[in-house]
Amino acid sequence: IQSTITLNNGTVIPQVGLGVFQTPDGDTTVNAVQTALENGYRHIDTAMIYRNEASVGEGIRRAGLPRGDFFVTTKLWNDDIRAHRGKDAFQESLDRLGLDYVDLYLIHWPADGWQQAWDDLQEIYASGRAKAIGVSNFQKHHIDELLANSDVLPAVDQIESSPQFTNHELIGQLRSKGIVAEAWSPLGGTGGNLLGSPVLAEIGAKYGKSAAQVVIRWHIQRGVVVLPKSTHAERIKQNFDVFDFNLTSEDMTAITALNTGKRNGADPDNFDF
Ligand code: A2P
Repeated sequence: IQSTITLNNGTVIPQVGLGVFQTPDGDTTVNAVQTALENGYRHIDTAMIYRNEASVGEGIRRAGLPRGDFFVTTKLWNDDIRAHRGKDAFQESLDRLGLDYVDLYLIHWPADGWQQAWDDLQEIYASGRAKAIGVSNFQKHHIDELLANSDVLPAVDQIESSPQFTNHELIGQLRSKGIVAEAWSPLGGTGGNLLGSPVLAEIGAKYGKSAAQVVIRWHIQRGVVVLPKSTHAERIKQNFDVFDFNLTSEDMTAITALNTGKRNGADPDNFDF
């Protein structure tokens, strides 16, 4: 049975979601989303800048689930943050998705103007068109500044995290404030060869699971929301087949020891997009 986490405002989030970053718009995204929802996923994570919100919406409609049964996240892009277009950009995302609300709306990066964007998100939240709001790629200092100026606690911070870049300290800091961490690039992305690690193969062999399934399970047992992406139906199914085994604390420690401290993606304190 799949696991869920209750966010700090009472919203329940399914712990494994399909990520669709770099999933090409059109049939590829439509099919990935439909396949996921038909195979038990109840959570899709997109963003305006992924340019596939309309296809996500189409995949959702093809799966035919009642609206209350699935969870959708999208995100406010940097250009719209800088242009103070938070509310308009949000409505455009809803329109592309073909939804009248999202479950979670995030500030995608701490771009200049994010403080005003957070005010926009609070208004959107108050209107009921986002059931929860949060941030992405915020470091501790961004969170501290936000909390000093906000009535609403972000529900999540979506950050890079994988066994290769655990981001363990930030996850602990978020947890101490009641903010759930969501992991992007949870399988280590396409850059390295995390999934080729013999450590993961050895652990997987004990349970009849692949390296990817072991890593997804590691995220789950850390209490993190995990957003694996794949465009292949078999992998999409495999990545959700992670609720019938438990890693031991020794397994967890061995996986965490793969940490190199090197990011796969951009540094939130130094990005240029
Ligand atoms: P593909 O879409 O071709 O399946 P991350 O989520 O960490 O950014 O990395 C996802 C990468 O890992 C994608 O390139 C994806 O490729 C690949 N991937 C996803 N699921 C699996 C899996 N179960 N086994 C092997 N590779 C996977």
